[in-house]
Amino acid sequence: MILIEGKRLRLRRANVTDLGYIMALQYAPENLKFIVPFSEEYHREIIDSDGLEKLDVIVEEIDTGQAVGYFMLREMDSPFIEFTHVIIGRKGLGYGREALNLLLEWTFKVRNYHRVWIDCKEYNSIALHLYESLGFVREGVLREIILTDGVWENLIVLGMLDREYFSH
Ligand SMILES: CC(C)(COP(=O)(O)OP(=O)(O)OC[C@H]1O[C@@H](n2cnc3c(N)ncnc32)[C@H](O)[C@@H]1OP(=O)(O)O)[C@@H](O)C(=O)NCCC(=O)NCCS
Repeated sequence: MILIEGKRLRLRRANVTDLGYIMALQYAPENLKFIVPFSEEYHREIIDSDGLEKLDVIVEEIDTGQAVGYFMLREMDSPFIEFTHVIIGRKGLGYGREALNLLLEWTFKVRNYHRVWIDCKEYNSIALHLYESLGFVREGVLREIILTDGVWENLIVLGMLDREYFSH
């Protein structure tokens, strides 16, 4: 199932053959420090589900058909969708920005959600810069909510409303 296509990238629903890619991407050290990984079993359940509440999404290059990233969507059966596990494997090519722009277009223009939210570790300056430059607004801080290697870390919650998307 294709969600949406842009100039260089398309977003499609993951299938069982993508499981290896999803797990490798989550556990790559440069990504793992910024996310909380889920088990392969959990992803298999999402892939096998009806896709109404959660979705694993593959970002792929249109020209090559190669996977270059992965997103997870949650709470899709509410007016408030959550983007989580925003990971781009081929970094620094503008793919993160392009893929998130596509996902926002799908969220607000295709699916008419009222709001999207995302959380991000406080020191993840690249991701925070990207989200804010796309129009996400910082809504709050969840203080010391993740324990990583014995250190309690803060999460920043960011959100965007439909009217903010359409006026951005
Ligand atoms: C965050 C992430 C998704 C961005 O994807 P990307 O394809 O590398 O980013 P882009 O090439 O689209 O660049 C987006 C912006 O970040 C900036 N950026 C990207 N890499 C950077 C780097 N290494 N240092 C500084 N800025 C950087 C770009 O300059 C660009 O900003 P600009 O348009 O204002 O110049 C990707 O780096 C990633 O997967 N990181 C690890 C996992 C993670 O942190 N996920 C987010 C969890 S909340």
